[in-house]
Amino acid sequence: MELKNIQKEAQKAIENSNSLEELSKVYSKYCGKQAEISLILKSLKKLSKERRIEVGKQANEAKNLLKFKFDKRMKELSKEAVSKEESIDITVPGKKIFLGHLHPLTLVRREVEDIFQKLGFSIIEGPQIENEKYNFDALNIPKDHPARDLWDTLWLKTNEPLLLRTHTSPVQIRYMEKNQPPIRIIVPGKVFRHEATDSSHDIQFYQVEGLMVDKNVSSANFKAVIQEFFNQFFKKEVKIRLRPSYFPFTEPSFEIDMACLVCDGKGCSACSKTGWMEIMGAGMVHPNVFKNSGLNPKNWQGFAFGMGLDRLTMMKYRIDDIRLLYSGDLRFINQF
Ligand code: FA5
Repeated sequence: MELKNIQKEAQKAIENSNSLEELSKVYSKYCGKQAEISLILKSLKKLSKERRIEVGKQANEAKNLLKFKFDKRMKELSKEAVSKEESIDITVPGKKIFLGHLHPLTLVRREVEDIFQKLGFSIIEGPQIENEKYNFDALNIPKDHPARDLWDTLWLKTNEPLLLRTHTSPVQIRYMEKNQPPIRIIVPGKVFRHEATDSSHDIQFYQVEGLMVDKNVSSANFKAVIQEFFNQFFKKEVKIRLRPSYFPFTEPSFEIDMACLVCDGKGCSACSKTGWMEIMGAGMVHPNVFKNSGLNPKNWQGFAFGMGLDRLTMMKYRIDDIRLLYSGDLRFINQF
């Protein structure tokens, strides 16, 4: 075929191509290695010098023109493809985005914070890695107290003896060192203990420390605040009991149990068949704790408590095993 005709035919084919795929085929046919123009260019050496110059010039011009047309059409078709992809069909039903949700411990922590904030308490945080001074010494915990044992405390392999805090009480000292009474704080946070697990004990769990210090704070104030908290949290009158207990950093000390809500006090695996769940330890701040924090115990009185947030969560949602909270089992967690 004559070069002029090839060029005309190719131009038409380029213009009529309606997709990039089609255009690519047309390119191979007219500009590829086996295309007629390419063959003409390859056979130039067989021609006489004059013909070679003349035919070579025409063939190169034709090929360059076709390449230019290809480029142009390719740009047009690419643009069309993009705008087709971007176009929105508003009649297509929307895709549902999978939304996660808060962990029950977070839900409970937030609710606890809300209630105490309404009662005038501020929310404070403290470090999870502690030293002996704050976790034990300043809290009046003697050097030979069993809680310091390897079996209860997770010690870090550091030069200075550091540990994962076993309770949130160290924040009492940290706060009183820097702030003068009146004090009303709660301290939610993670704590760690090296102990055997069962349905109500884990090796990491959450506590909420509470501290109220003023001129005339009594255990009656403590009872009123805690009963009010329980009633608001469970949205009903909850049966609680105070048991005498011992903590080196409070005097007197007590433990607060609530009637187990998993079994309504009948006895189940969550409450070790007792019908009661121990929720917190508490008491009146020991004079030595005030002294160790730089406050004069003659001037101040206060109560402190350490509440188990996991146990509170178990009661709220009737969960019979604390370990479910950390299991990562979606069948459990998706219920919240
Ligand atoms: C304490 O940790 C004291 N610091 C509490 C305290 C604070 C007393 C201020 C006086 C003044 P205890 O070890 O009893 O006390 O723990 C407090 C609460 O944490 C318990 O009542 C319980 O609800 C929870 N708790 C204790 N051990 C575990 C555990 N292994 N797993 C889950 N919750 C636990």
